[in-house]
Amino acid sequence: MAGKKIIAIVGATGSQGGGLVRAVLNDKSGAFAARAITRDANSAKAKELAALGAEVVSASVDDIESLKRAFAGAYGAFCVTFFWDHFSPEKEMAHARNMALAAKHAGLQHVIWSTLEDTRRWMPLSDDRMPTLQDKYKVPHFDAKGESDHFFTDAGVPTTFLLTSFYWDNLIFFGSGPKKDPSGKLAFTLPMGDKKLPGIAAEDIGKCAYGIFQAGKEYVGKTVAIAGEHLNGAEMAAALQQALGQPVYHNSVEPAVYRSFGFPGADDMGNMFQFYRDFEADFRRPRDPAIARRLNPSLQTFKEWLARNAKRIPLD
Ligand SMILES: NC(=O)c1ccc[n+]([C@@H]2O[C@H](COP(=O)([O-])OP(=O)(O)OC[C@H]3O[C@@H](n4cnc5c(N)ncnc54)[C@H](OP(=O)(O)O)[C@@H]3O)[C@@H](O)[C@H]2O)c1
Repeated sequence: MAGKKIIAIVGATGSQGGGLVRAVLNDKSGAFAARAITRDANSAKAKELAALGAEVVSASVDDIESLKRAFAGAYGAFCVTFFWDHFSPEKEMAHARNMALAAKHAGLQHVIWSTLEDTRRWMPLSDDRMPTLQDKYKVPHFDAKGESDHFFTDAGVPTTFLLTSFYWDNLIFFGSGPKKDPSGKLAFTLPMGDKKLPGIAAEDIGKCAYGIFQAGKEYVGKTVAIAGEHLNGAEMAAALQQALGQPVYHNSVEPAVYRSFGFPGADDMGNMFQFYRDFEADFRRPRDPAIARRLNPSLQTFKEWLARNAKRIPLD
């Protein structure tokens, strides 16, 4: 640990931050040490990270003073917010602001802010192709992140803006996998017609972030967009069919139908898929997988991710 540059990692027990903690710790001879931030240093996941060699500290993105303590003495930080824990864009923005101000207070030299596009730049609230949600947003969990970018620039924090992509792990943990239709056949629902969805293995996000820190100042002030592969619904269904060893078809529905599915966040997700579909070129262009592969040479394709994970996708 001595002499290493500390990266303080928000969301360390979760997908994005966890991937970064493991990437830092797996590079034993590297220049960086991992400081894992959690709300509960005694949880099983936090203890697991400590056993792997991470320094574990307690803080919450709700509490700016705790973030200042957690960032103190670090070289850099990885900042992420947790929309699906509360569904509130306002909370997400308050959390981003807390992290930006705490990073400034700690004098950090490099922060990665895990952000997404503010879709209102493409689809103003007056555009009725998709409903406005929560009064002020089109895709709340995107718009709140994009709107938060200025907290980092306004504070003068040396920041890389990391545009992430749809996790393929959503097929395991978010109910996005194939489901049996009334005839018992597996239907993979993606409301994007033949348009392609940039996706990524969640673990690869942290590995890419590590590549950004390793590059030194190269990416400070820049936006970096990452994806493992771009595939349409039919291509994903075909890969799923091969990996699962049973027929899977692409169930192509309209975004409006997806919004009506009724699960919490279905309207937000339906608008998100419509944004991907209607602005396919603009959304895909920055997410060239070659960029992510340069940062993370072990970047997985969908087929590689499926080879490791298909058995974990719940099918009932
Ligand atoms: N799913 C996707 O396809 C996708 C794609 C792109 C972007 N995103 C975005 O990714 C974000 C979530 O990141 P993730 O998937 O890495 O999260 P995650 O796996 O759900 O993990 C979140 C971790 O953050 C910690 N946490 C929760 N509330 C906290 C708080 N108040 N203060 C400090 N830590 C807190 C929790 O750790 P402790 O319990 O240990 O504190 C938890 O383990 C969301 O905003 C989402 O919009 C998701």
